[in-house]
Amino acid sequence: LAASPVWPFPRWIAHRGAGTIAPENTLAAFRVGASHGFRAFECDVKLSADGIPYLMHDDTLLRTAGQDSGASTLVWSEISLLDAGGWHSRGHAGEPPASLEAVTAFCQRNGGVLNIELKPTPGDETRTGEVVAAETEALWQPLVDAGQAPWPLLSSFNAKALAAARETAPQLPRALLLDQLTPDCFDVAELLDCTAVILEHSLIDPALLQRLHHAGLRVLAYTVNDPDAAERLLGWGLDGLITDEVARFVPD
Ligand code: G3P
Ligand code: MG
Repeated sequence: LAASPVWPFPRWIAHRGAGTIAPENTLAAFRVGASHGFRAFECDVKLSADGIPYLMHDDTLLRTAGQDSGASTLVWSEISLLDAGGWHSRGHAGEPPASLEAVTAFCQRNGGVLNIELKPTPGDETRTGEVVAAETEALWQPLVDAGQAPWPLLSSFNAKALAAARETAPQLPRALLLDQLTPDCFDVAELLDCTAVILEHSLIDPALLQRLHHAGLRVLAYTVNDPDAAERLLGWGLDGLITDEVARFVPD
């Protein structure tokens, strides 16, 4: 399989920054993931009400930022004051939510590779794809032009968000996330001109992997936390896996 010109496909990618040992999707998580030797990071990105891309998994701020509001109903100046670490542990209390700009700066300072999952608040799919793609292009273009870094990989379960990202910045590599196989799922990936698909790991078997590689798609798996499963998948030729177990697996 030809090397992708745009994403290096590291074999080990830290889920939400550092899995579960630090508050997900915060800068603290990226620091912890990096301290365990990870250089590739997955994170979930949504937009604030005023269109600032920031890291948040859920559709509301309640679980990870203690505020009973929709994730896209407050403006960034309000969201940035919330505590995104206290829910996780006392030692992380006061950790602020992270903007995409802040984790980008972290990755650029530390040679990190980013997988940005477009996780639009329902109804906000097109705007999320457009804004995140535009900001990613603006933040990374100088480094990419200088040959100093690869583009981030934009992924999503949401085809509409990926289509909007493609329309805005077609040169950014894209991956379709799949939690189940449907008759047309790989046609969708092809239509969106995806570099890769990212499958829920139990969906993968050697025949499927071979078929996707023959179709020119790289294949990643989420969320692989079991060492036997990781070894099996990589033995079959998987291109990389997203894991919570940043303290257990040693990235090569
Ligand atoms: O990007 C892979 C994985 O993060 C998708 O599931 O719910 O953890 O964002 P989720
Ligand atoms: Mg995710």
